[in-house]
Amino acid sequence: MTLKNLIKILLSGWLVLQLSGCGDNGKETVTPPPPPRATNVPATSPPSALKKNAVTAETREVYQWYCTQCHGLKGKGDGINAKLLTVPPRDHTKAYYLETRTDKQLFSSIQLGGLAVGRAPCMPSWGNTLDEKMIHSLVRYIRELCQCEAF
Ligand code: HEC
Repeated sequence: MTLKNLIKILLSGWLVLQLSGCGDNGKETVTPPPPPRATNVPATSPPSALKKNAVTAETREVYQWYCTQCHGLKGKGDGINAKLLTVPPRDHTKAYYLETRTDKQLFSSIQLGGLAVGRAPCMPSWGNTLDEKMIHSLVRYIRELCQCEAF
C-alpha cells in the first residue's frame, strides 16, 4: 500500500468518525438524525435473492476501503478507529452472535445504519454510498468471515 493510499484511508476513517458523531471526545455536539422509519426498508429484495449475490474481488475491496477502519482488516472488530468509538464495532468473525442475526437484519444495518436496527449509531449507513447488490454481497462476505448462517 502506498503512503498516499494509507493517508486516504486514515482520512476517510476520521471523516466517518466525525460524521457519525461517535468519537469518544467527551463533547457530544452532533445530534443523531431520527431513525428512519421501518417503511424505509426496501421490500424489493426477497430473502431468496440474498443467496445470489456472490462475493467478488470488488466486495472484498469495498470492505477493505469502507469497513476496516472500524471492523479491522480481518473483520475482527479491531480497526484503527475501534478504540475511539463509544460502542465497539462488531467482530464479524464471531459466529455465536452473527448466527442470531438474519441476512435481512445485516443488510438493513449496513444500508440504514446501526440506529435503524436498534444498534449504535456509530455504525454508519451506507445506502447512499453502496448499491443494494453490493450490500447483499457484503452480507455474504460477513457470512464468509463468521463461517456461519442465520439459525
Ligand atoms: C465508524 C465505524 C464503522 C464503520 C466505518 C463501519 N462500521 Fe459496521 N459497526 C460499527 C459499530 C460501532 C457496530 C456495532 C453497533 C452495535 O453493536 O450497536 C457495527 C456493527 C456492524 C454490523 C452488525 C449489525 C448488527 O446487526 O449487530 C454489521 C453487519 C456491520 N457493522 C457492517 C459494516 C460494513 C459492511 C461496513 C462497511 C461498508 C461497516 N460496518 C463500516 C462501526 C462501523
